[in-house]
Amino acid sequence: MMSKVLLEIKNIHARVAENPEKKILRGLNLTIREGEIHAIMGPNGSGKSTLAGVLTGNPNFEVTEGEIIYKGKNLLELAPEGRAHLGIFLSFQYPKEIPGVTMANFMRTALNEKRKAEGKEPISAVNFLKLMDEKRKLVQMDKKLMSRAVNEGFSGGEKKKNEIFQMAMLDPTLTILDETDSGLDIDALRIVAEGVNKLHTPEKACIVITHYQRLLDYIKPQFVHILRKGQIVETGDAQLALKLEKEGYGWLEEEQDK
Ligand SMILES: Nc1ncnc2c1ncn2[C@@H]1O[C@H](COP(=O)(O)OP(=O)(O)OP(=O)(O)O)[C@@H](O)[C@H]1O
Ligand SMILES: [Mg+2]
Repeated sequence: MMSKVLLEIKNIHARVAENPEKKILRGLNLTIREGEIHAIMGPNGSGKSTLAGVLTGNPNFEVTEGEIIYKGKNLLELAPEGRAHLGIFLSFQYPKEIPGVTMANFMRTALNEKRKAEGKEPISAVNFLKLMDEKRKLVQMDKKLMSRAVNEGFSGGEKKKNEIFQMAMLDPTLTILDETDSGLDIDALRIVAEGVNKLHTPEKACIVITHYQRLLDYIKPQFVHILRKGQIVETGDAQLALKLEKEGYGWLEEEQDK
C-alpha cells in the first residue's frame, strides 16, 4: 500500500521579496510521502536553498504562483512558527550564532513553544535534562557545548552536529537538511548521518540537499531530484547521484538543448 502524502508542492514560482525581478523557482513540483527520503542536488544557484526557505516561510522569498499542501493544510498561509509547530525543521547551510543565549536555554524555549502549540505542558527541568543528554549522545556532542552560547565559537562541524541535535530534540515530521555535509570530517559525517537515520520513522520524511553523493552512502534516499534553473528537471534513484558524481551536470544541458 502506498503511504500517505505528507507534502505536495504544486507549480511553485518564487522570487526574491526585495527584488521582484529576481525569479528563482519557476514551476517546481514535488510530492513527498510519509517514510520517504528525497535528495535534492543541482548546480550552485539553482534554487535549492530557496526551496528550503519557501517551505519554512523565510520572508526573503515571495511565492507568486502555485500551492503547497502539508499535512492537508495550505502551508503558504502559515507563519514560519506555525510551520515549525507542525513539525517542519530546517537545518541551515550556514548555521547562525546566537550570542548570550545558552544552548540549554535556547532548546528549552524552542521545545516548550512547540509543546504549547500542541496543547502540552512545559517539560519539567528533570525530563528536559534527561532528553538533552539522550539526544546529545546521539550525535556524540560534547556536554560542555550545552552551557555555551548557541553556536558561538563552535567549529563548523560542531555547528552541524548541533543542528542534528536540535532536530533530535524537536522531533520534526519533515526535516530539511541543507548541505549538512559541507565542512564535516568523515567521522562527523557518519555520526550526523547515523543520527538522521536513527530519527527516521515510517511517519516522517526528509529532504536532503547536497552536492555530494558521499552523504547518500549513509542516508539512503528513495528519490534523487536534480534542480536546475528553478525546476526539477530529472528524478531518479540513488543511481542518479552516482551519475552526477561521475559526469557532473553538463549532460543535462545537452539533453535539454536537444
Ligand atoms: N536575497 C536574495 N537576493 C538576491 N538574490 C538572491 C537572494 N537569495 C537568493 N538569491 C539568488 O537566487 C539564486 C538561487 O539561490 P539558492 O541559494 O536557492 O541556490 P542554491 O541552489 O541553494 O545554491 P548553492 O548550491 O550554492 O547553495 C541564486 O542566484 C542567488 O544568488
Ligand atoms: Mg544553497
